[in-house]
Amino acid sequence: MVDEAKRFLITPGARVIVDATVGPGGHAEALLEAAPADCVLIGVDLDDEALGLAARRLERFGERVVLEKMNFADLEERLSRRYVGRVDGLLVDCGISGLQIVSSVRGFSFDRQGVLDMRFDRGSGATAGDLLRSMDLDGLTGLLREFGETRLAKRIARSILDARDASRLESTLDLSRAVKAVVKHKPAKSLARVFLALRATVNSELGSLARLMESLPRLMNSGGRVCVITYHSLEDRIVKRSFRRLSGMCVCPPGVPVCACGKVTEFKILTPKPLRPRPEETSANVSARSAKLRAAEKIEYEH
Ligand SMILES: C[S@@+](CC[C@H](N)C(=O)[O-])C[C@H]1O[C@@H](n2cnc3c(N)ncnc32)[C@H](O)[C@@H]1O
Repeated sequence: MVDEAKRFLITPGARVIVDATVGPGGHAEALLEAAPADCVLIGVDLDDEALGLAARRLERFGERVVLEKMNFADLEERLSRRYVGRVDGLLVDCGISGLQIVSSVRGFSFDRQGVLDMRFDRGSGATAGDLLRSMDLDGLTGLLREFGETRLAKRIARSILDARDASRLESTLDLSRAVKAVVKHKPAKSLARVFLALRATVNSELGSLARLMESLPRLMNSGGRVCVITYHSLEDRIVKRSFRRLSGMCVCPPGVPVCACGKVTEFKILTPKPLRPRPEETSANVSARSAKLRAAEKIEYEH
């Protein structure tokens, strides 16, 4: 959804844009091409390989590009230490890139042989294999349910843990086999959910996104715009609720007689409904099918 990202983020006042998930640099390149010549882009990722690819792809923009390895959840703190403080544009394109999916050493794909790693940052933290070694039946069942696998969650979890206990869970294809052993009919959806649940847990994806959203009032300049692309409902819910809260819409639980959340308006929502990719995009890139883009603008309000 590059055109939509450009439409929201390239404003006459854009001087500093952060691409918080720069990946191999596709969106960043398009943004830099469209932005004013004095606009700088800070590209962030946790993945060293992605940062290397982005560095090569964006080399021609010279000093207009700064690349940083960090978790975007830490942006507020890292930017205030190193850069200008606040920014005029922020792009977050959640999830994984095509290059990460096809790499067998990363373990993100359920139909390619690979190691059970799934970390964005291969230099730190527990892998998917470590996670599976430490989980019990209730924990894994709960995790699969959270990520949408309702009916068969317990049977899938048991099959995975049985494979683990029989020392038959060394690779991504072993994990896929354990899922397929109990999901005989059209297993692709279950496989996708199992891999998503593990990947999101290994990388604390929902927590990082929530922390980034929470920091927006202090991260953005007045008039600055944020644009977030999500790929599943749990991510989208975090963004939708954060935008609602920041735009001053009441977030009290249903049934509360008098508003108790005391919301103030800090952002204006630019997408009352999330934007979806155009058919040309989804036919060229299947994983774009589930994408939703939401954008908001900080209004003149000093936090
Ligand atoms: C969908 S890809 C981005 C692709 C990029 N927009 C492009 O056009 O090439 C998402 C990227 O975000 C990175 N990522 C995910 N969560 C992150 C986090 N919390 N902090 C930093 N990078 C993260 C992943 O490593 C991956 O490279």
